[in-house]
Amino acid sequence: MVSSHSTILYTKNLRKTFFTKDKKDVQAVKGVDLDVKKGQIFGFLGPNGAGKTTTLQMLTTLLTPTSGEAMVVNFDLKTQPQKIREHIGYVSQSGGADRTTNAIQDLILQAMLYGLNLDTAQKRAKDLIDRFELTEFADRIISSYSGGQRRRLDLALGVIHEPDIIFLDEPTTGLDPQSRARFWEEIRTIKDDGTTIFLTTHYLDEADSLCDYLAIVDHGKIVAKGTPTALKHKIGGESIIVAMKDDKELEKGKNLMEKQKFVEKIFVRENKLYLFVKEGEKLLADVLRLLDNEKIGLLTIELSKPSLDDVFLQETGRSLREGGEL
Ligand SMILES: Nc1ncnc2c1ncn2[C@@H]1O[C@H](COP(=O)(O)OP(=O)(O)OP(=O)(O)O)[C@@H](O)[C@H]1O
Ligand SMILES: [Mg+2]
Repeated sequence: MVSSHSTILYTKNLRKTFFTKDKKDVQAVKGVDLDVKKGQIFGFLGPNGAGKTTTLQMLTTLLTPTSGEAMVVNFDLKTQPQKIREHIGYVSQSGGADRTTNAIQDLILQAMLYGLNLDTAQKRAKDLIDRFELTEFADRIISSYSGGQRRRLDLALGVIHEPDIIFLDEPTTGLDPQSRARFWEEIRTIKDDGTTIFLTTHYLDEADSLCDYLAIVDHGKIVAKGTPTALKHKIGGESIIVAMKDDKELEKGKNLMEKQKFVEKIFVRENKLYLFVKEGEKLLADVLRLLDNEKIGLLTIELSKPSLDDVFLQETGRSLREGGEL
């Protein structure tokens, strides 16, 4: 397998098909190629059912790929899964904390499972409790923690053996905005220690502001890859979003706009027309004039800078926002 020296994770044509009893095969992952660099926060962004968890479970040796190759921390997934397990951390979508104990005991136990002696395990547990500010509740039963507190403990559990790379499956789902922002800070501290982070998310803002590099996944396939800035840049122009009065006006507006040379791509979502253009500011007045000339009724018109949602929309024809479908 070809990979550059700063590559920590590499996959080639990775696939997973689930064979079910009723013989309806589910192709969850359909040929994924990834190249994750050491020290990155790598984001795997995609909607529900895209194949994120399945991919993560293959990379963490919990699921066997149907075909394809993968290298994780210089070890081959097929032949050296045990080696991989020693060098990675994994926090599952539902979290791994044992809810019947407390944070201190759970951290010590986890460290000892990784082969650390009691002294080192205790020391690491204490360090992590300080670092992730778990002190306040560390000796309380885990089932009493808030969602944010539990996610922070999950993260501490995931890094206690100082892995080279940690896999986080939707680490901030269900957290309020404040807890999410705080969690991002914790992730950045882990990155500053030199640990590579591979996380899945369906949050656009998380992908945009936290991740250094993204692979956008849909229906088991990568539809776009790049830094958040590069991906948005690729979209180029901006979009003019026109909300129409009703379906009839929407149809008329769409027909009219499809004829305009300056409209590079057009999408309809709910009662809105999305016009992808190069120079939105200049064209806003033209769009208004054109609609007005034809007496097409609109409710609002706005200009939008390219977002990751636009990237997804351009690649798939659907929106990632709130799981909205066209
Ligand atoms: N054990 C299984 N048997 C059959 N199908 C499965 C199995 N596990 C997952 N799938 C299917 O594979 C597809 C991908 O699922 P996966 O859990 O990887 O998606 P995801 O991107 O993690 O979604 P979410 O954002 O909801 O967590 C889905 O269609 C799912 O129903
Ligand atoms: Mg999942």
